[in-house]
Amino acid sequence: MNLGFIGTGKIASSIIFGIFKSNLKINRIYISSRNRNIAKKLKGRFSKIKICSNNQEIIDKASVIFLSVTPPVGKKILNNLSFKGKTVISLISTINERELKSKIHSKNICKAIPLPFIENRVGPIIICPKNRIAKKIFSKLGLVIEVNKEKLSFNFWATSSFMASYYEIYNSMTKWLVRRGLKKSQATNYVAELFFALSKDALLKKNIGFDKLVSDSQTPKGLNMQVLKELKKVKFYEKMNKSLNNVYKKFKK
Ligand SMILES: NC(=O)c1ccc[n+]([C@@H]2O[C@H](COP(=O)([O-])OP(=O)(O)OC[C@H]3O[C@@H](n4cnc5c(N)ncnc54)[C@H](OP(=O)(O)O)[C@@H]3O)[C@@H](O)[C@H]2O)c1
Repeated sequence: MNLGFIGTGKIASSIIFGIFKSNLKINRIYISSRNRNIAKKLKGRFSKIKICSNNQEIIDKASVIFLSVTPPVGKKILNNLSFKGKTVISLISTINERELKSKIHSKNICKAIPLPFIENRVGPIIICPKNRIAKKIFSKLGLVIEVNKEKLSFNFWATSSFMASYYEIYNSMTKWLVRRGLKKSQATNYVAELFFALSKDALLKKNIGFDKLVSDSQTPKGLNMQVLKELKKVKFYEKMNKSLNNVYKKFKK
């Protein structure tokens, strides 16, 4: 299988790193020199990477094309490219299936939501609608969740927008520890290990439900109970849900 990426940015690079750590059988991956530094790095690292001089050449040489440009760039360039007979996996958040189909005349199109940790071959990957080839590729790189109704998939686009704010919790807590006199390395290690352990525990116990994890993590009148109560009082979680709603609205258009 020959893969091609239109746009060699953050998410394309994460997928490519994941692919080369996996046992997915591929012959070549065709990319362009946009972005130049990332393309250079990938080419230097992996012999199966080939840099093409333009987007159409990538499409012509590959059988599966990932669209990994931003929405404004996608809107600008897709009309002028020919994808006939190719499998197209679009990662472009806010170009919906209808618009995509009007720009790309290929029968085999789906959208997917990989996230940068795909480079470690972990985490969920949403595919919508079901697509055999996308599933074959992504199941080597994480947990595939197939969604057939596009409207439902928009909810996952909304939840996928919580990466930066999640990491900001790490960041704020680390800075708080440093301000209290802890060494930065010690604070960083502590916070990374704390959230790694919590995430791993949540994954192992997911079947008991997150309600139960919340209640099991609180001693009556204890410290966890105090923080949860204080955050609820300032409507921390309501604000989080409001942000999810606001992001979702971008997809409903
Ligand atoms: N990052 C994520 O976590 C994530 C997750 C899921 C989906 N997505 C989606 O994936 C898409 C890309 O996101 P990203 O974070 O990877 O963005 P990014 O890092 O900005 O990558 C976009 C790439 O497109 C290139 N580009 C610009 N104009 C181009 C053109 N005319 N032809 C070919 N390539 C061109 C840019 O090159 P230059 O730097 O040279 O301009 C850049 O390398 C977005 O639609 C986003 O919604 C991202």
